[in-house]
Amino acid sequence: MTNSKNLKVGMLGCGVVGSNVARLLHEDSGDFAARSGATLTLAKVAVKNVSAKRDHVPASIITSDALSVVNDPSIDIIIEVMGGIEPAREMLLAAIKNGKSVITANKALLGLHGAELFEAADKNGVDLYYEAAVGGAIPILRPLRESIVGDHVHRVMGIVNGTTNYILTKMDEEGSAFADVLKEAQALGFAEADPTADIEGHDAAAKAAILAGLAFHTRVTTKDVSCEGISKISARDVAVAREMDHVIKLLAIAELTADQQVSVRVHPTLISRQHPLASVRNAFNAVFVEAESAGELMFYGRGAGGAPTASAVLGDLIAIARNKTNGGEGHGESDYAEISIAPLDNVKSRYLIRLDVADKPGVLATVAQLFASNSVSIETVRQSGRGDSAELIVATHSAPESSLKKTVEALAKSDVVKKVESVLHIESSSR
Ligand code: HSE
Repeated sequence: MTNSKNLKVGMLGCGVVGSNVARLLHEDSGDFAARSGATLTLAKVAVKNVSAKRDHVPASIITSDALSVVNDPSIDIIIEVMGGIEPAREMLLAAIKNGKSVITANKALLGLHGAELFEAADKNGVDLYYEAAVGGAIPILRPLRESIVGDHVHRVMGIVNGTTNYILTKMDEEGSAFADVLKEAQALGFAEADPTADIEGHDAAAKAAILAGLAFHTRVTTKDVSCEGISKISARDVAVAREMDHVIKLLAIAELTADQQVSVRVHPTLISRQHPLASVRNAFNAVFVEAESAGELMFYGRGAGGAPTASAVLGDLIAIARNKTNGGEGHGESDYAEISIAPLDNVKSRYLIRLDVADKPGVLATVAQLFASNSVSIETVRQSGRGDSAELIVATHSAPESSLKKTVEALAKSDVVKKVESVLHIESSSR
Protein backbone atom coordinates (compact mmCIF):
# COMPACT_ATOMS: atom_id res chain seq x y z
CA MET A 1 0.00 0.00 0.00
CA THR A 2 1.29 3.47 -0.83
CA ASN A 3 1.15 5.86 2.08
CA SER A 4 0.35 9.27 0.78
CA LYS A 5 0.22 10.91 4.19
CA ASN A 6 2.83 11.36 6.86
CA LEU A 7 1.21 12.39 10.15
CA LYS A 8 3.27 13.76 13.00
CA VAL A 9 2.27 12.98 16.55
CA GLY A 10 3.11 15.02 19.64
CA MET A 11 2.73 13.50 23.08
CA LEU A 12 2.27 15.27 26.43
CA GLY A 13 3.56 13.00 29.21
CA CYS A 14 5.62 9.84 28.96
CA GLY A 15 4.86 7.81 32.07
CA VAL A 16 3.54 4.24 32.19
CA VAL A 17 0.98 4.81 29.42
CA GLY A 18 3.03 7.19 27.27
CA SER A 19 6.10 4.95 27.22
CA ASN A 20 3.94 2.06 25.99
CA VAL A 21 2.39 4.28 23.31
CA ALA A 22 5.94 5.21 22.18
CA ARG A 23 7.05 1.56 22.21
CA LEU A 24 4.09 0.31 20.20
CA LEU A 25 4.29 3.19 17.71
CA HIS A 26 7.92 2.17 17.15
CA GLU A 27 7.33 -1.61 17.00
CA ASP A 28 4.15 -1.62 14.91
CA SER A 29 4.63 1.37 12.62
CA GLY A 30 4.26 -0.79 9.48
CA ASP A 31 0.93 -2.26 10.60
CA PHE A 32 -0.34 1.14 11.71
CA ALA A 33 0.53 2.65 8.31
CA ALA A 34 -1.25 -0.19 6.50
CA ARG A 35 -4.29 0.10 8.76
CA SER A 36 -4.62 3.87 8.68
CA GLY A 37 -3.19 4.81 5.29
CA ALA A 38 -0.74 7.19 6.93
CA THR A 39 2.75 6.94 8.37
CA LEU A 40 2.56 7.94 12.03
CA THR A 41 5.73 9.47 13.46
CA LEU A 42 6.27 10.42 17.09
CA ALA A 43 7.80 13.86 16.55
CA LYS A 44 7.88 15.54 19.98
CA VAL A 45 7.31 14.44 23.56
CA ALA A 46 6.88 16.82 26.51
CA VAL A 47 7.95 15.49 29.92
CA LYS A 48 8.75 16.91 33.35
CA ASN A 49 12.13 15.20 33.69
CA VAL A 50 14.01 15.63 30.41
CA SER A 51 17.16 13.88 31.60
CA ALA A 52 15.53 10.47 32.27
CA LYS A 53 16.42 7.95 29.54
CA ARG A 54 13.45 6.55 27.66
CA ASP A 55 13.40 3.61 25.24
CA HIS A 56 11.94 4.42 21.81
CA VAL A 57 11.99 8.15 22.57
CA PRO A 58 15.23 9.73 21.30
CA ALA A 59 16.53 12.64 23.41
CA SER A 60 16.27 14.88 20.32
CA ILE A 61 12.43 14.81 20.44
CA ILE A 62 12.10 15.35 24.20
CA THR A 63 11.26 18.76 25.63
CA SER A 64 10.08 20.14 28.95
CA ASP A 65 8.00 22.77 27.12
CA ALA A 66 4.53 21.30 26.47
CA LEU A 67 3.40 24.54 24.80
CA SER A 68 6.10 24.13 22.15
CA VAL A 69 4.54 20.76 21.25
CA VAL A 70 0.95 21.99 20.92
CA ASN A 71 2.12 25.11 19.05
CA ASP A 72 4.38 23.22 16.60
CA PRO A 73 2.77 23.72 13.17
CA SER A 74 4.27 20.48 11.81
CA ILE A 75 2.40 18.34 14.40
CA ASP A 76 -0.99 16.97 13.33
CA ILE A 77 -2.19 14.98 16.36
CA ILE A 78 -1.65 15.44 20.11
CA ILE A 79 -1.83 12.60 22.63
CA GLU A 80 -2.33 13.82 26.21
CA VAL A 81 -1.28 11.28 28.84
CA MET A 82 0.09 13.71 31.44
CA GLY A 83 -3.02 13.58 33.66
CA GLY A 84 -4.28 16.23 36.09
CA ILE A 85 -6.50 19.20 35.26
CA GLU A 86 -3.96 21.95 34.57
CA PRO A 87 -1.94 22.37 32.43
CA ALA A 88 -3.58 19.44 30.55
CA ARG A 89 -6.76 21.47 29.90
CA GLU A 90 -4.85 24.53 28.72
CA MET A 91 -2.60 22.43 26.46
CA LEU A 92 -5.48 20.52 24.86
CA LEU A 93 -7.42 23.74 24.22
CA ALA A 94 -4.32 25.29 22.62
CA ALA A 95 -3.79 22.20 20.44
CA ILE A 96 -7.45 22.22 19.34
CA LYS A 97 -7.32 25.94 18.53
CA ASN A 98 -4.22 25.22 16.45
CA GLY A 99 -6.28 22.77 14.37
CA LYS A 100 -4.83 19.58 15.81
CA SER A 101 -6.91 16.51 16.58
CA VAL A 102 -6.42 15.31 20.14
CA ILE A 103 -6.53 12.11 22.16
CA THR A 104 -6.76 12.10 25.93
CA ALA A 105 -6.92 9.42 28.59
CA ASN A 106 -7.77 12.05 31.20
CA LYS A 107 -11.08 11.13 32.88
CA ALA A 108 -10.74 13.74 35.63
CA LEU A 109 -10.36 16.49 33.03
CA LEU A 110 -13.22 15.25 30.81
CA GLY A 111 -15.49 14.73 33.82
CA LEU A 112 -15.11 18.40 34.78
CA HIS A 113 -14.34 20.25 31.55
CA GLY A 114 -15.60 17.90 28.81
CA ALA A 115 -18.14 20.41 27.47
CA GLU A 116 -15.52 23.12 26.96
CA LEU A 117 -13.19 20.72 25.15
CA PHE A 118 -15.95 19.21 22.95
CA GLU A 119 -17.21 22.67 21.98
CA ALA A 120 -13.69 23.78 21.07
CA ALA A 121 -13.12 20.62 18.99
CA ASP A 122 -16.45 21.11 17.22
CA LYS A 123 -15.75 24.76 16.49
CA ASN A 124 -12.30 24.00 15.11
CA GLY A 125 -13.37 20.93 13.09
CA VAL A 126 -10.96 18.52 14.82
CA ASP A 127 -11.39 15.15 16.47
CA LEU A 128 -11.37 14.65 20.25
CA TYR A 129 -11.09 10.94 21.11
CA TYR A 130 -10.84 9.51 24.64
CA GLU A 131 -11.47 5.74 24.62
CA ALA A 132 -8.76 5.18 27.27
CA ALA A 133 -10.50 7.48 29.78
CA VAL A 134 -13.00 4.82 30.89
CA GLY A 135 -12.17 1.15 31.36
CA GLY A 136 -8.58 1.34 30.02
CA ALA A 137 -8.32 -1.21 27.20
CA ILE A 138 -12.05 -1.97 27.14
CA PRO A 139 -13.81 -0.64 24.05
CA ILE A 140 -16.88 0.93 25.69
CA LEU A 141 -17.03 4.58 24.60
CA ARG A 142 -17.00 3.87 20.86
CA PRO A 143 -19.71 1.17 21.24
CA LEU A 144 -21.89 3.68 23.13
CA ARG A 145 -21.11 6.42 20.62
CA GLU A 146 -21.43 4.33 17.47
CA SER A 147 -22.46 0.67 17.72
CA ILE A 148 -25.58 1.09 19.87
CA VAL A 149 -26.38 4.68 19.01
CA GLY A 150 -29.46 3.35 17.18
CA ASP A 151 -30.86 1.97 20.44
CA HIS A 152 -32.26 3.39 23.68
CA VAL A 153 -30.01 2.76 26.67
CA HIS A 154 -31.89 2.36 29.96
CA ARG A 155 -29.01 1.74 32.28
CA VAL A 156 -25.22 1.46 32.42
CA MET A 157 -23.56 -0.18 35.43
CA GLY A 158 -19.80 -0.32 35.60
CA ILE A 159 -17.00 -1.66 37.70
CA VAL A 160 -14.68 1.09 36.49
CA ASN A 161 -12.03 1.25 39.19
CA GLY A 162 -9.52 -1.57 39.45
CA THR A 163 -8.05 -0.58 42.82
CA THR A 164 -11.39 -0.81 44.63
CA ASN A 165 -12.40 -3.97 42.77
CA TYR A 166 -9.12 -5.59 43.82
CA ILE A 167 -9.72 -4.62 47.47
CA LEU A 168 -13.35 -5.79 47.48
CA THR A 169 -12.39 -9.07 45.78
CA LYS A 170 -9.77 -9.82 48.47
CA MET A 171 -12.22 -8.88 51.23
CA ASP A 172 -14.81 -11.22 49.70
CA GLU A 173 -12.52 -14.16 49.00
CA GLU A 174 -10.25 -13.96 52.06
CA GLY A 175 -12.54 -12.37 54.64
CA SER A 176 -9.92 -9.64 55.24
CA ALA A 177 -10.49 -6.16 56.68
CA PHE A 178 -10.45 -3.13 54.36
CA ALA A 179 -7.38 -1.49 55.97
CA ASP A 180 -5.30 -4.69 55.73
CA VAL A 181 -6.10 -5.27 52.05
CA LEU A 182 -5.43 -1.61 51.23
CA LYS A 183 -1.98 -1.85 52.84
CA GLU A 184 -1.23 -5.06 50.95
CA ALA A 185 -2.46 -3.53 47.66
CA GLN A 186 -0.19 -0.50 48.19
CA ALA A 187 2.80 -2.77 48.88
CA LEU A 188 2.09 -4.69 45.65
CA GLY A 189 1.66 -1.49 43.62
CA PHE A 190 -2.06 -2.12 42.97
CA ALA A 191 -3.05 0.97 44.97
CA GLU A 192 -1.54 4.47 44.93
CA ALA A 193 0.40 5.83 47.93
CA ASP A 194 -2.46 8.35 48.22
CA PRO A 195 -5.44 6.13 47.38
CA THR A 196 -8.14 8.75 48.07
CA ALA A 197 -9.32 9.27 44.48
CA ASP A 198 -9.79 5.53 44.05
CA ILE A 199 -11.19 4.41 47.40
CA GLU A 200 -13.51 7.39 47.87
CA GLY A 201 -15.00 6.82 44.40
CA HIS A 202 -13.83 10.08 42.75
CA ASP A 203 -12.09 8.30 39.86
CA ALA A 204 -15.21 6.17 39.27
CA ALA A 205 -17.43 9.29 39.47
CA ALA A 206 -15.56 10.99 36.61
CA LYS A 207 -15.95 7.82 34.54
CA ALA A 208 -19.65 7.59 35.49
CA ALA A 209 -20.17 11.14 34.19
CA ILE A 210 -18.52 10.26 30.86
CA LEU A 211 -20.57 7.05 30.49
CA ALA A 212 -23.83 8.80 31.40
CA GLY A 213 -23.23 11.62 28.91
CA LEU A 214 -22.69 9.17 26.06
CA ALA A 215 -25.49 6.78 27.03
CA PHE A 216 -28.14 9.48 27.43
CA HIS A 217 -26.93 12.13 24.92
CA THR A 218 -26.85 14.68 27.71
CA ARG A 219 -24.16 16.78 29.33
CA VAL A 220 -23.15 15.23 32.63
CA THR A 221 -20.24 16.42 34.75
CA THR A 222 -18.55 14.85 37.75
CA LYS A 223 -20.40 17.39 39.93
CA ASP A 224 -23.70 15.72 38.91
CA VAL A 225 -22.57 12.36 40.31
CA SER A 226 -23.49 11.30 43.87
CA CYS A 227 -20.45 9.55 45.17
CA GLU A 228 -19.67 7.23 48.07
CA GLY A 229 -16.49 5.15 48.31
CA ILE A 230 -15.61 1.85 49.95
CA SER A 231 -13.58 2.94 52.98
CA LYS A 232 -16.45 2.21 55.41
CA ILE A 233 -17.08 -1.32 54.12
CA SER A 234 -16.35 -3.81 56.91
CA ALA A 235 -15.47 -7.49 56.81
CA ARG A 236 -18.89 -8.09 58.43
CA ASP A 237 -20.70 -6.25 55.56
CA VAL A 238 -18.91 -8.49 53.08
CA ALA A 239 -19.73 -11.62 55.11
CA VAL A 240 -23.43 -10.68 55.34
CA ALA A 241 -23.54 -10.12 51.56
CA ARG A 242 -21.95 -13.54 51.11
CA GLU A 243 -24.57 -15.18 53.37
CA MET A 244 -27.22 -13.64 51.07
CA ASP A 245 -25.43 -15.04 47.99
CA HIS A 246 -24.48 -11.48 47.01
CA VAL A 247 -21.16 -9.69 46.58
CA ILE A 248 -20.31 -6.03 47.27
CA LYS A 249 -18.97 -4.09 44.27
CA LEU A 250 -18.27 -0.38 43.81
CA LEU A 251 -20.69 0.34 40.98
CA ALA A 252 -20.91 3.41 38.77
CA ILE A 253 -24.58 3.52 37.81
CA ALA A 254 -26.17 5.76 35.19
CA GLU A 255 -29.85 5.16 34.56
CA LEU A 256 -33.01 6.70 33.27
CA THR A 257 -35.49 7.01 36.15
CA ALA A 258 -39.22 6.34 35.90
CA ASP A 259 -39.82 10.09 35.55
CA GLN A 260 -37.32 10.29 32.68
CA GLN A 261 -34.44 11.92 34.52
CA VAL A 262 -30.85 10.68 34.55
CA SER A 263 -29.55 9.34 37.84
CA VAL A 264 -25.76 9.06 38.07
CA ARG A 265 -24.14 7.66 41.17
CA VAL A 266 -21.20 5.70 42.52
CA HIS A 267 -21.61 3.61 45.65
CA PRO A 268 -20.84 0.23 47.14
CA THR A 269 -23.65 -2.07 46.05
CA LEU A 270 -24.74 -5.62 46.83
CA ILE A 271 -25.31 -7.57 43.62
CA SER A 272 -26.42 -11.16 43.24
CA ARG A 273 -23.62 -13.64 42.60
CA GLN A 274 -25.60 -14.69 39.51
CA HIS A 275 -25.20 -11.22 37.95
CA PRO A 276 -22.44 -11.13 35.29
CA LEU A 277 -20.74 -8.21 37.09
CA ALA A 278 -20.28 -10.40 40.20
CA SER A 279 -17.72 -12.51 38.32
CA VAL A 280 -15.46 -9.50 37.62
CA ARG A 281 -12.57 -10.13 40.01
CA ASN A 282 -9.38 -8.39 41.14
CA ALA A 283 -8.33 -5.31 39.17
CA PHE A 284 -10.47 -6.10 36.12
CA ASN A 285 -13.16 -3.66 34.97
CA ALA A 286 -16.48 -4.29 33.22
CA VAL A 287 -19.37 -2.21 31.98
CA PHE A 288 -22.86 -3.72 31.77
CA VAL A 289 -25.29 -1.97 29.44
CA GLU A 290 -29.05 -2.48 29.29
CA ALA A 291 -30.66 -1.22 26.09
CA GLU A 292 -34.17 -1.46 24.72
CA SER A 293 -33.49 -3.52 21.58
CA ALA A 294 -30.02 -4.94 22.21
CA GLY A 295 -30.93 -6.17 25.69
CA GLU A 296 -28.00 -6.80 28.00
CA LEU A 297 -24.38 -6.30 26.89
CA MET A 298 -21.19 -6.63 28.93
CA PHE A 299 -17.75 -5.22 28.10
CA TYR A 300 -14.91 -6.69 30.16
CA GLY A 301 -11.14 -6.25 30.38
CA ARG A 302 -8.16 -4.50 31.91
CA GLY A 303 -9.08 -1.05 33.14
CA ALA A 304 -5.60 0.28 33.77
CA GLY A 305 -1.92 -0.40 33.15
CA GLY A 306 0.54 0.82 30.53
CA ALA A 307 0.01 -1.54 27.60
CA PRO A 308 -3.79 -1.98 27.99
CA THR A 309 -4.35 1.79 28.18
CA ALA A 310 -1.92 2.34 25.27
CA SER A 311 -4.02 -0.11 23.21
CA ALA A 312 -7.05 2.20 23.54
CA VAL A 313 -4.96 5.32 22.82
CA LEU A 314 -3.52 3.74 19.66
CA GLY A 315 -7.00 2.67 18.51
CA ASP A 316 -8.00 6.34 18.73
CA LEU A 317 -4.83 7.39 16.92
CA ILE A 318 -5.55 5.08 13.99
CA ALA A 319 -9.19 6.21 13.90
CA ILE A 320 -8.07 9.85 13.66
CA ALA A 321 -5.42 8.97 11.05
CA ARG A 322 -8.12 7.21 8.99
CA ASN A 323 -10.33 10.29 9.24
CA LYS A 324 -7.45 12.43 8.01
CA THR A 325 -6.62 9.99 5.22
CA ASN A 326 -10.21 9.65 4.04
CA GLY A 327 -11.15 13.28 4.59
CA GLY A 328 -13.72 12.44 7.30
CA GLU A 329 -14.28 13.69 10.82
CA GLY A 330 -15.35 11.79 13.93
CA HIS A 331 -18.76 12.53 15.38
CA GLY A 332 -18.63 15.25 18.02
CA GLU A 333 -20.42 15.20 21.37
CA SER A 334 -24.09 14.28 21.19
CA ASP A 335 -25.93 16.20 23.92
CA TYR A 336 -29.19 17.03 22.17
CA ALA A 337 -31.40 15.23 24.70
CA GLU A 338 -30.66 17.65 27.58
CA ILE A 339 -32.23 15.33 30.15
CA SER A 340 -32.24 16.75 33.67
CA ILE A 341 -30.25 15.08 36.44
CA ALA A 342 -32.35 13.33 39.07
CA PRO A 343 -31.76 14.61 42.63
CA LEU A 344 -30.40 11.72 44.72
CA ASP A 345 -33.27 12.08 47.22
CA ASN A 346 -35.77 11.01 44.52
CA VAL A 347 -33.78 8.01 43.32
CA LYS A 348 -35.20 4.65 44.34
CA SER A 349 -33.14 1.70 45.49
CA ARG A 350 -33.36 -1.37 47.69
CA TYR A 351 -31.28 -1.18 50.87
CA LEU A 352 -29.61 -3.43 53.41
CA ILE A 353 -29.46 -1.95 56.92
CA ARG A 354 -27.45 -3.59 59.65
CA LEU A 355 -28.31 -2.60 63.22
CA ASP A 356 -26.88 -3.34 66.64
CA VAL A 357 -29.95 -3.51 68.90
CA ALA A 358 -30.89 -4.44 72.45
CA ASP A 359 -32.17 -8.05 72.57
CA LYS A 360 -35.43 -7.65 74.51
CA PRO A 361 -39.18 -7.83 73.83
CA GLY A 362 -40.63 -5.10 71.58
CA VAL A 363 -37.38 -4.13 69.84
CA LEU A 364 -38.29 -5.71 66.51
CA ALA A 365 -41.75 -4.10 66.65
CA THR A 366 -40.24 -0.65 67.36
CA VAL A 367 -37.71 -1.00 64.52
CA ALA A 368 -40.41 -2.21 62.09
CA GLN A 369 -42.60 0.76 63.11
CA LEU A 370 -39.80 3.24 62.27
CA PHE A 371 -39.53 1.77 58.76
CA ALA A 372 -43.32 1.80 58.34
CA SER A 373 -43.77 5.38 59.53
CA ASN A 374 -41.29 6.54 56.86
CA SER A 375 -43.04 4.48 54.13
CA VAL A 376 -40.12 2.09 53.66
CA SER A 377 -41.36 -1.43 53.12
CA ILE A 378 -39.33 -4.28 54.65
CA GLU A 379 -38.62 -7.31 52.48
CA THR A 380 -36.78 -9.53 54.98
CA VAL A 381 -35.46 -9.27 58.55
CA ARG A 382 -32.85 -11.51 60.09
CA GLN A 383 -31.77 -11.47 63.71
CA SER A 384 -28.85 -13.11 65.43
CA GLY A 385 -28.37 -12.86 69.18
CA ARG A 386 -25.12 -11.74 70.78
CA GLY A 387 -25.75 -11.88 74.55
CA ASP A 388 -27.80 -8.88 75.66
CA SER A 389 -27.64 -7.35 72.20
CA ALA A 390 -28.48 -8.61 68.73
CA GLU A 391 -27.69 -7.89 65.11
CA LEU A 392 -30.71 -7.05 62.98
CA ILE A 393 -30.26 -7.25 59.23
CA VAL A 394 -33.09 -5.57 57.34
CA ALA A 395 -33.47 -5.74 53.55
CA THR A 396 -36.00 -3.29 52.14
CA HIS A 397 -38.10 -3.11 49.02
CA SER A 398 -37.34 -0.26 46.66
CA ALA A 399 -37.69 3.13 48.38
CA PRO A 400 -36.63 6.73 47.65
CA GLU A 401 -33.30 7.78 49.14
CA SER A 402 -35.06 10.60 51.09
CA SER A 403 -37.36 8.08 52.86
CA LEU A 404 -34.44 5.84 53.64
CA LYS A 405 -32.44 8.78 55.08
CA LYS A 406 -35.35 9.70 57.40
CA THR A 407 -35.66 6.07 58.49
CA VAL A 408 -31.95 5.85 59.31
CA GLU A 409 -32.08 9.14 61.24
CA ALA A 410 -35.03 7.83 63.27
CA LEU A 411 -33.25 4.51 63.90
CA ALA A 412 -30.09 6.30 65.07
CA LYS A 413 -32.15 8.31 67.60
CA SER A 414 -34.18 5.34 68.84
CA ASP A 415 -33.55 3.97 72.37
CA VAL A 416 -33.64 0.36 71.15
CA VAL A 417 -30.92 0.86 68.51
CA LYS A 418 -27.37 0.88 69.90
CA LYS A 419 -25.78 1.61 66.52
CA VAL A 420 -26.67 1.77 62.83
CA GLU A 421 -23.75 -0.37 61.69
CA SER A 422 -24.15 0.09 57.94
CA VAL A 423 -26.50 1.11 55.15
CA LEU A 424 -25.84 -0.38 51.72
CA HIS A 425 -27.60 -0.34 48.36
CA ILE A 426 -28.87 -3.58 46.86
CA GLU A 427 -29.02 -3.64 43.08
CA SER A 428 -32.19 -5.11 41.68
CA SER A 429 -31.97 -7.21 38.56
CA SER A 430 -32.72 -5.54 35.24
CA ARG A 431 -36.22 -4.42 34.34
N1 HSE B 1 -6.74 4.27 39.35
C1 HSE B 1 -7.62 3.66 38.41
C2 HSE B 1 -7.99 2.27 38.87
C3 HSE B 1 -7.07 3.55 37.03
O1 HSE B 1 -7.62 1.84 39.97
O2 HSE B 1 -8.71 1.61 38.15
C4 HSE B 1 -7.05 4.86 36.31
O3 HSE B 1 -8.34 5.39 36.18
